[in-house]
Amino acid sequence: MIFALLEILLCFHITVIVGSQPNIIFILSDDHGWNDIGYHSHIIRSPNINALCNDGVRLENYYIQPGCTPSRSQLMSGRYQIHTGLQHSVIRNDQPNCLPLDEVTLAEKLKEVGYATHLVGKWHLGFYTPSCLPTRRGFDSFFGYLIGQEDYYKHIHDGGYDLKRHETDVSKQYQGDYTTHVFTSEAQNIIKSHDPSTPLFLYMSYQSVHANYLQVPEHYSNMYNGVIDDEDRRIVAGMVTCMDEGIGNITQTLKETELWNNTIIIFSSDNGGDPNDGGNNWPLRGEKGTHWEGAIHGLGFVYSSDIAKDVRGTVNTEMIHVSDWFPTIVNLAGGSLNGTKPLDGFDQWQTISQGAESPRTEILINIDPLVPPPSDMEHFFHGWNGTYNTSMCGAIRVGDWKLITGYPGEGSWTPPPESGHQPIIPNDKPGKHVWLFNIAEDPTETTDLSEDNLDKVIELLIKMDEYLLTSVPVVYPPNDPLADPSLNDGIWRPWSPEPYTYPGNPNNPNNPNIKDNVF
Ligand SMILES: *[C@@H]1O[C@H](CO)[C@@H](O)[C@H](O)[C@H]1NC(C)=O
Ligand SMILES: *[C@@H]1O[C@H](CO)[C@@H](O)[C@H](O)[C@H]1NC(C)=O
Ligand SMILES: *[C@@H]1O[C@H](CO)[C@@H](O)[C@H](O)[C@H]1NC(C)=O
Ligand SMILES: *[C@@H]1O[C@H](CO)[C@@H](O)[C@H](O)[C@H]1NC(C)=O
Ligand SMILES: *[C@@H]1O[C@H](CO)[C@@H](O)[C@H](O)[C@H]1NC(C)=O
Repeated sequence: MIFALLEILLCFHITVIVGSQPNIIFILSDDHGWNDIGYHSHIIRSPNINALCNDGVRLENYYIQPGCTPSRSQLMSGRYQIHTGLQHSVIRNDQPNCLPLDEVTLAEKLKEVGYATHLVGKWHLGFYTPSCLPTRRGFDSFFGYLIGQEDYYKHIHDGGYDLKRHETDVSKQYQGDYTTHVFTSEAQNIIKSHDPSTPLFLYMSYQSVHANYLQVPEHYSNMYNGVIDDEDRRIVAGMVTCMDEGIGNITQTLKETELWNNTIIIFSSDNGGDPNDGGNNWPLRGEKGTHWEGAIHGLGFVYSSDIAKDVRGTVNTEMIHVSDWFPTIVNLAGGSLNGTKPLDGFDQWQTISQGAESPRTEILINIDPLVPPPSDMEHFFHGWNGTYNTSMCGAIRVGDWKLITGYPGEGSWTPPPESGHQPIIPNDKPGKHVWLFNIAEDPTETTDLSEDNLDKVIELLIKMDEYLLTSVPVVYPPNDPLADPSLNDGIWRPWSPEPYTYPGNPNNPNNPNIKDNVF
C-alpha cells in the first residue's frame, strides 16, 4: 500500500517536471565541419561536448542549411528559405535586407508564454533598419554581433566595428578579448542572475569556428602540436577545443543553479566546414555553401532529463531538420503555434526523447534561381516536361533519396591534412546538372544513380515543381552605399530609420556567384 502510494507520488512528481516549462539552451556553432568534433574524429578534443552527448541523444541524420543566414532564418522562423525570400546566399552587411518582418520568431513565441529570452553571439539575420534587430524580434537581451564574420579579438570587419549590448556598440570596451571567452562569460552571468521562477531561453550563438578569421589563443592550438602539422587546421582544432571548454563552463554554471534539472541543451552546427580554411567534413563530400552532404549533414545532439532512459546515450538516425526546432521548442515550452505563417518544420520531441519515428519524410534543401547554371550544360534530361528547370540550383531529400540539380558547388572529398591524403576530385562530366544518390546506402555521394533511375528522378522533380509553385520571389537587393561604416561612426548598425519595401529582385545587377559568397 505504502509502496503503491509512493509510486503514485513519484509518477505525479515526474509528470510535474515534464509538464513544467523547461529552460532551453540552444547552442549553435559556426562553420563546424562534420569531422571537427570529438565524437567523429579521434584527433579533435571536445570532452565536454562528448559527455553531454553521451548523456543525451546524438542526432546523426540531422540536416541544416548550407550557410549562416539560411540555417539561422529557418531556426528563427521554422520556414524554408523559398517561403521567406532568403533563397540566395546570405544577407551581406551592406544589403538592406533581413528576415522578413512579418515572420514570427521563435523568441517571440517563447516570450508569449513567459520566457526570458537572450541571444548571445551572432545574429546574421539583417540589421539595416532598427525593426530587424534581435532586440525588436523577441529577445529581451542581445550581446553579440549583427554581421556575418569579423575579427575575434578586435570585433571589426570591412572598416566597421560590431559588438553590441542590446542596441549599443560596445566593441571598444572589449578590444583584445576573444569572443569565445566573452560570450561564455556573458552566458554564465545570464544563468547566474536568472530568476528560476521564470523559464529561460538562451540562444548561444558562438562565433567559433567561422572560417576566414582563423584566430584562437595559442594555448588551445598548441594542444595539437605534433598531432596536426597544418597551421590552419591546428587553429580550427584549437577553436573547437576552446568552444568545448566554454560549453563545459556553461554546463557547470547551470549545474550550480536550480535551473539544471529542468534544462534542455540543444547543440547544432549551422553549416559544414571550409576545408580551404582548416575545417573538415571528411568523409562527406563538398564544403560549406554547397548542396553536397559536407555542407548540410549537420552536427547535432540534445541533452535533457526528459529523454527516456533507454534512449539516453543512443544515436538517433531519424530524419530531423533545422526548421524542426521551431515547433519542437514552442510545444515543449507549452506555447501555441498560432499566428505563424505555414511552418515547414515538424515537432520532433517524441522522435528525440522516445526514439519514435520521425514525422518528416522529406527535406527541401533549397531552390535558388539566382545561381547561374553550370557552363557547358548538356541537356541530358529529356523525359521531363515540368516547369522546374533542371539547370536551376536546387536539391531535395525524399526518404533515402537525394536529387541535386543545377550547379551544386565544389564537390571534392577532402581528407583532413593530418591524414597525409590529397583531396579526391570528382570526375563528373562538364555541364552535368542532375545527380541522384541513395544517401542511406551512399552517404558520401560517390555513386550517381540518375541515369539508371529516371523514374525516381522524375518523381523527385515533380516534388521540386510542387515546391517551386509555393516559393516567393528571391529578395537579394543590391548593396546600399548608406550602409558604409564610415558614414555610421565607424560601426555596423542600422542605417535606415524605416524598412524599405521591395517587390523582390530576381534580376539582381550584382550577378551573384555562389562561389564568391561568404556564408
Ligand atoms: C572556463 O572557465 C575556466 C575557469 O574559470 C577559465 O579559466 C576558462 O577561461 C573558461 N573558458 C572559456 C572558454 O570561457
Ligand atoms: C530539482 O530541483 C529542485 C528544486 O531545486 C529540487 O528540489 C529537486 O531535488 C531537484 N531534483 C533533482 C532530481 O535534482
Ligand atoms: C497566440 O495565442 C496566445 C494565447 O492564446 C496569445 O496570447 C497570442 O497573442 C497569440 N499569438 C498570435 C501571434 O496570435
Ligand atoms: C509530361 O510528361 C508526362 C510523363 O512524364 C506525361 O504523362 C504528360 O502527359 C506530359 N505532359 C505534357 C504537357 O507533355
Ligand atoms: C532552362 O534554363 C537554361 C539556362 O537558364 C536555359 O538555357 C533553358 O532554355 C531552360 N530550359 C527551359 C526548358 O526553359
